[in-house]
Amino acid sequence: MAIIMDGNGRWAVARGRPREWGHRQGARAVRRVVEAAPDLGIGTLTLYAFSSDNWQRPAHEVRTLMRLFRSYLRREVPELLENGVRLEVLGRRDRLSPELVRAITAAETATAAASRLRLRLAVDYSSRDILVSAAQLAAAAGGANLDRDSFAARVGEAMGLREATPEVDLLIRTGGEQRLSDFLLWECAYAELTFTSKMWPEFGKDDLSAAVREFRARDRRFGKVTAAAG
Ligand code: IPE
Ligand code: IPE
Ligand code: MG
Repeated sequence: MAIIMDGNGRWAVARGRPREWGHRQGARAVRRVVEAAPDLGIGTLTLYAFSSDNWQRPAHEVRTLMRLFRSYLRREVPELLENGVRLEVLGRRDRLSPELVRAITAAETATAAASRLRLRLAVDYSSRDILVSAAQLAAAAGGANLDRDSFAARVGEAMGLREATPEVDLLIRTGGEQRLSDFLLWECAYAELTFTSKMWPEFGKDDLSAAVREFRARDRRFGKVTAAAG
């Protein structure tokens, strides 16, 4: 499962508060969702926290977000371990501060052996940039015999994974917009898409379980005709 956590800023502004306050409340929603996910049968959860295009936001908002990521990574490790959560961070690291990179490495190392939930946090992530990198890797390897599976492996490699990039089965976007904003374009080829007008800071366990319920009721045909239809 993957979530585009959107709507923090608008949620805060609607309450007469600065956008940064919305981001702080958004971090609490992350905690709720991470805690609830394993019991709902979710094994992999990829959260879109900061897109490569988000660098274009005002400097003070970017600073707050970077500070929030760092404090989340530092504070959350004991709780992640308690819940059996393995944390991985996706995206470029060369534009992050050395302190944030250290916090990422420390959290990844500390949780590496956990296996109840694989939590992937996308920071400075751009799906198109990853696809370009994957294409470059494929070209450098000669490009011959490239097929879907080997390309998925290249996408994984471009993301620093040892295995092919996992497909997304269910994608949720909060905040009312109905777009992918450069998130997991390859992995979402057959994802079920769910859009909710709920803003991310107010998203909770019940919303997550409602989305999972809706997903289970959907007829995933993958281009075929449903057997039951006959
Ligand atoms: C999502 O909320 C968090 C990030 C993109 C970092 P937004 O900050 O996009 O909030 P809105 O969409 O402006 O309300
Ligand atoms: C997408 O949200 C990125 C994250 C949620 C981290 P944005 O708010 O940046 O996307 P747009 O600008 O509405 O497409
Ligand atoms: Mg937004």
